[in-house]
Amino acid sequence: MKQIRTLQEYKAYLAAVRESGKTIGFVPTMGFLHKGHLSLVEQAKKDNDVVVMSIFVNPLQFGPNEDFERYPRDEARDTQLAASAGVDVLFLPSVEEMYPTPIRTLVKVEGVTERLCGASRPGHFDGVATVVMKLFHIIQPQRAYFGWKDAQQVAVIEQMVRDLNVPVQVVPCATLREPEGLAMSSRNVYLSPEHREQSVVLHRSLQRIEEWLADPGLTADALEHLLAQSIRTAKDADIDYVQVLKYPSLEPLEGPLSAAGTFIAAAAVRFGQTRLIDNRLFDGAAGPNPKTSNETEVDVCSAP
Ligand code: PAJ
Repeated sequence: MKQIRTLQEYKAYLAAVRESGKTIGFVPTMGFLHKGHLSLVEQAKKDNDVVVMSIFVNPLQFGPNEDFERYPRDEARDTQLAASAGVDVLFLPSVEEMYPTPIRTLVKVEGVTERLCGASRPGHFDGVATVVMKLFHIIQPQRAYFGWKDAQQVAVIEQMVRDLNVPVQVVPCATLREPEGLAMSSRNVYLSPEHREQSVVLHRSLQRIEEWLADPGLTADALEHLLAQSIRTAKDADIDYVQVLKYPSLEPLEGPLSAAGTFIAAAAVRFGQTRLIDNRLFDGAAGPNPKTSNETEVDVCSAP
C-alpha cells in the first residue's frame, strides 16, 4: 500500500493510473478505522481497479464546541487495517495541505441540511460538502463510497453531485453493527461500559418500528413519540432529536406512514459526552429497505 501525504505526489500517481486506464474507487474517512469503513473498501475493490482511502479529520465540519481536538486518531493502526483490507493508496494530507490559506469558498447544500444533524450542528454539512468536493477534485475517482449510517450525509453528497454535475458515482453502503446492534462508529470508544450497554436502546427502538407500523393510521408524529418513549427507557439517554421524514428530501411527512413513499426514522442521542446517531430507511408500505442495513443477507451496497 502506498502512503501519500501531498497533492503533488498524488498528481503523479493519478497520471500513472490514467495512463493505464484503471478506474479509481474512493473511500473518504476521518480515520480510527473500524469494520464499517472496511466494508466500504470491500465494495470499492469489487467495483474498481484501484482503491484510494483518505484519512483526514476535517476541521471545517466541527463546530467550535465539538470534538475536533479529541477526535480519536491512530495512524499506525489505521495504516495496518487499510493495508490488510486491500487499500492501494492511503491519502493522509495535513490540515495545511488541505487548507493552505483560509478558505473563502464553501459548498452549501440547502434543503436537505435544514433538519436532523443539519439543525443540531450548524455549518457541519457545509464543512462536509466542501471537503468532499475538494477530495473529489484531488482524487478524481469514478466512484465514491459512503455509509448509510450517515444517511443525511448521503443525501447531501448526492444532491451536491446532481446539482453541480460532479462526475463521480456515489455508492451508499449498508450500516455495519456490533453483535448487540450498536452501529459501528469511531466515537464508540468514548462510551463508558455502562453507557455502551445502554446505547443498544437506539437500535432496539428503531427495530420496533415494524411492530408500530402494523397500525395503518400511524403518523410520523406518533412514530416519533413512540421512538422517543422507547429510547428514554435507557437511564442516561439524552435525546438530541428523533425525527421521521421523507427521504431523500428530508422534508416533513403529512398523513399516515402507510401511504408515504420512502421515509427515514433518524435519531441522535447523547450518553454522557458521546453523541450517537442511527437511522432506518423504509420504502413506505413495502417496509424496511434491506440495502441500508446488513442485518439481512443481501448485497450490502447499491449496485453502481
Ligand atoms: P467517518 O465518520 O470517518 O466515516 C467515513 C465513512 O464511513 C462515511 O461514509 C460513513 O458513513 C461510513 N461509516 C461510518 N460508520 C459506518 C458503519 N457502521 N457502517 C458502514 N459505514 C459506516 O463521514 C465522515 O467520516 C466524514 O464526514 C467524511 C465523509 C470523511 C468527510 O470528512
